[in-house]
Amino acid sequence: MKILLTASEAVPFSKTGGLADVTSALAHAMSANGHDVLLVLPDYPSLRSDDGWKGYTLTPLTETVRVPIGKRDVTAKLLEVRRENSNVRIILVSCPLYFDRPGLYGVDNLDFGDNCERFSFFSHAVLSVCQQLDFHADIVHANDWQTGLVPALLDVKFRSVPQLASAASILTIHNLAFQGVFPEHALMLTGLGSQYFTMQHMEYYGQINLLKTGVTFARKITTVSPTYAEEIQTAEFGCGLEAVLSSRKDDLVGITNGIDPDEWNPATDPLLPSHFNVENWSQSSGKPAVKQHLQSEFGLPERPDVPLFGIVSRLTEQKGIDLLLEIGEEFFSRDVQLVLLGTGNQEFESQLEELGRKYPEKCAIKIGFSEPKAHLIEAGADAFLMPSQFEPCGLNQMYSQRYGTVPIVRLVGGLADTVVDADSKAVNEGVATGFGFRNHTSQNLLDTIDRACSAYRTPTLWKQLVETGMRKDFSWATKADDYLTVYEQART
Ligand code: ADP
Ligand code: GLC
Repeated sequence: MKILLTASEAVPFSKTGGLADVTSALAHAMSANGHDVLLVLPDYPSLRSDDGWKGYTLTPLTETVRVPIGKRDVTAKLLEVRRENSNVRIILVSCPLYFDRPGLYGVDNLDFGDNCERFSFFSHAVLSVCQQLDFHADIVHANDWQTGLVPALLDVKFRSVPQLASAASILTIHNLAFQGVFPEHALMLTGLGSQYFTMQHMEYYGQINLLKTGVTFARKITTVSPTYAEEIQTAEFGCGLEAVLSSRKDDLVGITNGIDPDEWNPATDPLLPSHFNVENWSQSSGKPAVKQHLQSEFGLPERPDVPLFGIVSRLTEQKGIDLLLEIGEEFFSRDVQLVLLGTGNQEFESQLEELGRKYPEKCAIKIGFSEPKAHLIEAGADAFLMPSQFEPCGLNQMYSQRYGTVPIVRLVGGLADTVVDADSKAVNEGVATGFGFRNHTSQNLLDTIDRACSAYRTPTLWKQLVETGMRKDFSWATKADDYLTVYEQART
C-alpha cells in the first residue's frame, strides 16, 4: 500500500511529546511490513544542528510547493531525508516564514498568533508534495489538529489530482485536549469556503476547529488506545467533541501505541551507565548500579534500600501534577526518594522546585527536556508515577515496564490498557505489572503509593511485578497490523 503519513512532529527531527515517537515508529513499522511510506513533516531549522541529524542524510530537492493562503501564495522548498537501512521517504517542508521559530507551537507557554495560518499552510503543502513527487497515495494519514485540515482539503480541493483521486483519509487523535480552535475570520486561511463553516464540518461554538474538521471529513478515525476511544465519547473526556465523536463511533477505532524496542532496550541503551535484562536486572551491576548513578547525578543520597520514584513528564494538569503537589508533604514524610524531569506550566515548575528545596535529601527536580536523563530515570528508578487526569495512551508506563520500573498510574485511557494493577487476583494469576487507582484524588494516589511501598518491601512480589512487566511485548509489530486493517476498511 502507498501511505502518505503526516504530522507536526517526529523523532529525531522535532518533539514536544509522544506524538513524535509514534509518528516515526508507525512510519518505520509500516515500511518494514513492505508498504511504501512517504512521511511529510514541517522543517523546523532551529532544531537542526549544522550537520543535520546523525545517521540521516539531507538533500534539497528541486521541486517546490506553492500554497494559496488567503489572497497570496506562499512557496516552500522541500528537503528529503533518508536513513540508512530504512525505506521511509521523509520530506521536510521548508518555509522559514512559518517554521524557523524558537518553538514548535509557541514560546514561554504562549501560542504563536498565526498557528492557524502555519498549519493551514502545512496541511495544504502536504497534499501538494504528494502531487509534486508523483506519489499515488492509497492512504492519507493525518495526526492531531495540526494536520486536521488534510482530510478536508483532500475532499474539497485535491480530488481532481490523479495522485490523490482515490486516496482514503485517516485521522489519528493523540490528544483531544488540543483541538486547534481559531476565530471565524481565520476561515479564509484554511482554503475551505464558508459553506463548510457549519456544525457538520468545522464550526465549533462560533469558531473554527481544525481537529473537528479532521473528525468530520476523515474516512476513518483512530485514537491511541481502546479505552480512550470509548472515553472520548463521554462528556467527562470528550472535551466538547463527544457528540461528534459518538456520531462517528462506527468509524472510530482505538489502537494502543507501541514503543520502539531498539531505542528503549535496557540491555543495549547507549544512554545508560550499565545494562541489564530480565534475567540479571537485580544483580549489583544491573539496575542497582543505574539507580546509584541516577541518585548521584540528581544529588540524592546513594541508598540502595529506599524506594526511588521517577517522573518524566510535561508539567500540565493532564499529567496529574496537581495531585502530586497536594500529597507532597505527606509523601515526603515517608522513607522515599523522587526524581522528576519535566517542563511546562510555570506555576507547577516553581512549586515543584520549592518541594525540591524543602526536601533536598528526598526530592530532586530538574526542569528541562533531556533525552539522556529521561532514559536514566526510566532505568534507575524503582517505580514510575503517572497519576494522569486523562491519558490517551502514554508511553512512559510502557518504557518503565520494559526497564523493570513498576508503574503507578491512574487507570484511564491507555494506562488502563497497558498496566495491570497488582490486586490479589492479578498477582495470583501472575499478570500484575503495576499499581493503579480509578478516581482522580490525591488520597487515592497516596494510598496507591503506599501499596507500592509495601510491595517494594516484599522482594518476591516486587520481583514478580518487575519481571512480568519486562517480559511484556509492547512492540509495533501487531499495532502495524491493526493500522493496516483500518486502512483496508477505509478503502472499501
Ligand atoms: P505526552 O505525549 O502526553 O506528553 P507520552 O507519554 O505519550 O505523553 O509521551 C511523552 C514522551 O515525551 C515520552 O517519550 C517522554 O519520555 C518524553 N518526555 C516528556 N517530557 C520530557 C522531558 N522533560 N525530557 C525528556 N523527555 C520527555
Ligand atoms: C499524546 C497523549 C499521549 C499519547 C501520545 C502519543 O500526546 O497525551 O497519551 O501517548 O499523544 O499518541
